[in-house]
Amino acid sequence: MMRVDPYERRWMIATGVTLVLFVLAIAATAVIGGIELPGISQRIAPSTVATSGAFANPGIRQLGPGRYEAFLRAQTWAFLPNEIHVPAGSSVTFHLTSPDVQHGFYVEGTNLHIMVLPRHVTTLTATFARPGTHQFWCDEYCGMNHQGMAGRIIIDPR
Ligand code: CUA
Repeated sequence: MMRVDPYERRWMIATGVTLVLFVLAIAATAVIGGIELPGISQRIAPSTVATSGAFANPGIRQLGPGRYEAFLRAQTWAFLPNEIHVPAGSSVTFHLTSPDVQHGFYVEGTNLHIMVLPRHVTTLTATFARPGTHQFWCDEYCGMNHQGMAGRIIIDPR
């Protein structure tokens, strides 16, 4: 067998241990932080977003006890709607699309961070345990009034 200098061997072991620690850190962050990849749930024609289907009448609907779905249109330069109310403890499935250009949907204090693309409906679920306000922003540069594209999710006490 090839002879490895003890000093070099220690560095090789340290490198291996560091790699294992990094992989464990990623796994722990994914589990503790509730990381979930947003999925493209559907394709949609940008020209019909505002006139037909669920996005023509965007907003929040109750699916069952503590379960909601929210349809949001991200468009230049506003979210429709830009304010959502749900009771604490609710689980909300967000569906977002854009009729024009690429936008972002970043909700502070949650695992919601979505790229909103025309032609695609992106879907992600979040649970809001405690009452409070979560601001959200468009965080993909989308033109002149990008910085004004924002809103909030208000979690009402039960
Ligand atoms: Cu929409 Cu930036």
